[in-house]
Amino acid sequence: MRVVTVVGARPQFVKASVVSRALRVRHEEVLVHTGQHYDATMSDLFFRELDLPQPDRHLGVGSGSHGEQTGRMLAAVERTLLETKPDLVLVYGDTNSTLAGALAAAKLGVSVAHVEAGCRSHEPTMAEEINRVVTDHVAALLFCPTPSAVENLAREGITRGVSHTGDVMLDLCRERLPEAERRSSVLTTLGVDAGRYLVATIHRAGNTDDRARLTALVAAFGRLDTRVIFPVHPRTRAALAGMPLPANVCPIEPLGYLDMLVLVRRARMVLTDSGGVQKEAFFVGTPCLTLRDRTEWPETVEAGWNRIVDVDGDAIAAAVATWTPSGAPSSDIFGDGRAAEKIVTLLAEAW
Ligand code: UD1
Repeated sequence: MRVVTVVGARPQFVKASVVSRALRVRHEEVLVHTGQHYDATMSDLFFRELDLPQPDRHLGVGSGSHGEQTGRMLAAVERTLLETKPDLVLVYGDTNSTLAGALAAAKLGVSVAHVEAGCRSHEPTMAEEINRVVTDHVAALLFCPTPSAVENLAREGITRGVSHTGDVMLDLCRERLPEAERRSSVLTTLGVDAGRYLVATIHRAGNTDDRARLTALVAAFGRLDTRVIFPVHPRTRAALAGMPLPANVCPIEPLGYLDMLVLVRRARMVLTDSGGVQKEAFFVGTPCLTLRDRTEWPETVEAGWNRIVDVDGDAIAAAVATWTPSGAPSSDIFGDGRAAEKIVTLLAEAW
């Protein structure tokens, strides 16, 4: 079986690393990087650290408006598919690269397989929600990380080709956490002690491109009596230009996977608008505050380890001061750590 995998953004390098390895045991993979993320800290670092093979094709699409970026990718992925003639195209998550890969394949009559299918924020205008919904509706194979993702698809009338596989991010986290703890010196480098700092990330357009929300978040961080380690996404860095940060907020360059995992694992709490970071916090047992008014990962909230606080400074301050979840989080909701193997088996069966 020849599979073309289309990736382009940081979370996709993370997810593809485990599936790609399992896939290449018996099958041929052509790895296509759209170039949506191109900074060394957003791309190269992940390929190196996660042993993801170098891309066979780099489309070099770069930044742009949504239509422009997705359109350039669509044309370039289509050319690649015509040249490589795959049996199947594999896409991940909810980015513009996901949508472009899925559409290019579907229009050529090539089957699309979607990893992380069925996730929904139920926010129809959100860029990622549009990408997810369209991708799921053209996909032949839909690999769902959670039971709620399967239910979301059923509500949209999609039941054929749907499998509950578990989450490939859990596979990677379980596999790499021991090594990360051994190798990473991120706490020493940053001069923080375990349990005595917070980690914050912001990159969603809904927060970065809305000045009032971004200002509210920065002010909320400034009210906390703890150091806030803040790995800054390039989009957020641009949006923050000219906005002073409070003294307790420590902005740093985006981290690699292993350092980020350790930083999250040892933090007192995580504050984030990222879906992936919400899950990673849950996997390693760190309480999480979600800086949005909803989440694609309701299981983490139901389990009592994630709270939706949006940009509410009072809610954020109160949670940081007083909230400690009870019991240990059970990551079984996200599978058994063998999602990648299941996905490869299902791909081969469908072929
Ligand atoms: C994208 C995804 C989002 C995912 C996130 C992970 C879409 C619609 N959004 O958001 O689902 O959670 O990636 O990070 O696909 N930039 C750089 N260097 C880079 C990459 C981006 O400077 O390496 C800057 C560019 O100015 C760009 C902006 O960041 O315009 C936004 O990048 P883009 O890829 O459009 O979306 P993300 O915000 O990263």
